[in-house]
Amino acid sequence: MHVVIINGSPRVQKFSNTDKIIQSFVKGLQVSGSTYELYSLSNRKEWDAASEAFSSHDQIIFALPLFVECVPSIMLEFLETLPTERQQPAQMSFILHGGFDEGHQLRLCERFLQSLPAQLGCTYGGCLVQGGSFLIRMRDDERMKKAMTKKLDAFSKMGESFAAHGNFLTPEARKFTGPEKNPKIVHLLFRLFIKRLVRKNFEHFAQQWGCTRPLDDKPNSIEEKR
Ligand SMILES: Cc1cc2nc3c(=O)[nH]c(=O)nc-3n(C[C@H](O)[C@H](O)[C@H](O)COP(=O)(O)O)c2cc1C
Repeated sequence: MHVVIINGSPRVQKFSNTDKIIQSFVKGLQVSGSTYELYSLSNRKEWDAASEAFSSHDQIIFALPLFVECVPSIMLEFLETLPTERQQPAQMSFILHGGFDEGHQLRLCERFLQSLPAQLGCTYGGCLVQGGSFLIRMRDDERMKKAMTKKLDAFSKMGESFAAHGNFLTPEARKFTGPEKNPKIVHLLFRLFIKRLVRKNFEHFAQQWGCTRPLDDKPNSIEEKR
């Protein structure tokens, strides 16, 4: 099987969490001899080639981060450039991920993605859905290594599964999301302890990236200027 993969994130490939997910996914995909070609919509120079690949291949995966509860606008813009009819049949599948970890917050976007293939003359090959991707790009940091390696390894396994089944319509793909909603006790623990820990981690990463002001700094707010 040959798969065209299109990264729908506006973030440049080097820093894109979606790209890290794709790199893990294709490791699994390639185990049984499948091949792939990858296009990143953050690089406008790749749009023509991505469009050509979309029209001329029969297995297409869009991998995208949730942006403000739905599809990033750069991907919507690209979709509008695609033809609505095609010469040969094709299947469109999706890898949808987002920063927050509960599954339910990705379902609205999943509904939109379900409706998309028919509008572009394709069939729907399912949507792999998972939250909790904020810190994937920090996977080499000691604090994050274990959790992020585990997360990315799971995407490799789903690459193997996609190569075997040809879609994400399997029970294992549905199970992949994890909890739709965290139990009340987790919400309580989050408010009491975990929030502070998450905040500390974000401060740590911000400092590593050269940020010298507090994360809740509001230099332009009227109150602070008084
Ligand atoms: C402008 C913006 C909006 C976002 N909106 C959401 C959101 O609504 N829900 C969510 O879970 N994550 C949201 N995120 C987090 C991203 O989905 C997450 O960080 C993802 O890993 C980014 O992937 P990328 O690095 O490939 O762009 C948002 C991020 C940005 C920058």
